Amino acid sequence: MFDAHIQLPEPSLVVLMGASGSGKSTFARTHFHATEVVSSDACRALVADDENDQSATPAAFDVLHCIVGHRLAGGRLTVVDATNVRPRDRSTFVELARKHHVPLVALVLDLPTTVCLQRNQTRTDRTLPVHVVRAQSEELRRGLAGLGDEGFGLVTLFDSAEQVAAATITRRRPVPSTPATD
Ligand SMILES: Nc1ncnc2c1ncn2[C@@H]1O[C@H](COP(=O)(O)OP(=O)(O)OP(=O)(O)O)[C@@H](O)[C@H]1O
Ligand SMILES: [Mg+2]
Repeated sequence: MFDAHIQLPEPSLVVLMGASGSGKSTFARTHFHATEVVSSDACRALVADDENDQSATPAAFDVLHCIVGHRLAGGRLTVVDATNVRPRDRSTFVELARKHHVPLVALVLDLPTTVCLQRNQTRTDRTLPVHVVRAQSEELRRGLAGLGDEGFGLVTLFDSAEQVAAATITRRRPVPSTPATD
């Protein structure tokens, strides 16, 4: 499932998945334009002035889904930066990709839980309890085999920091079909 070189259809809906500390936001900053990335933290900040305010999560996801829908309607490549570890976290993205006829892509940062925990320890922006990060990792792993059945057409699984560092992404626009000439 791992190929360091990812060919992304453009447009597509790219759903990042990974426990807190797995490096989703860092990956998004490295590989995508800032305006292509729609992040649950940024949406929490928009609605509640605090990206860590968990009480703002339902409103933040309303906003996030709305932005994703508008971007896909405009044919724009869109990247969702949220943990997305459970099938029910991902189901609205599956629906939106279907509705707007764009490919659905999973980029899964399934790094060892110890790495996520170590990184989280040194963060100043967020402190999540250890059991929460462990539960996220477990939930993510439980659902990996079912991503294809959920509707993800392209799945790339990174299971080490080395694999993440090796990743390159190019974009591929579909070749327009030529009208039949008979
Ligand atoms: N490839 C990497 N190598 C080393 N450190 C990294 C790497 N990616 C991220 N980090 C560090 O790990 C910490 C968490 O990274 P990041 O914020 O990208 O994680 P996240 O998956 O977005 O977490 P959250 O779900 O909490 O938003 C940051 O301090 C970041 O600098
Ligand atoms: Mg993040």
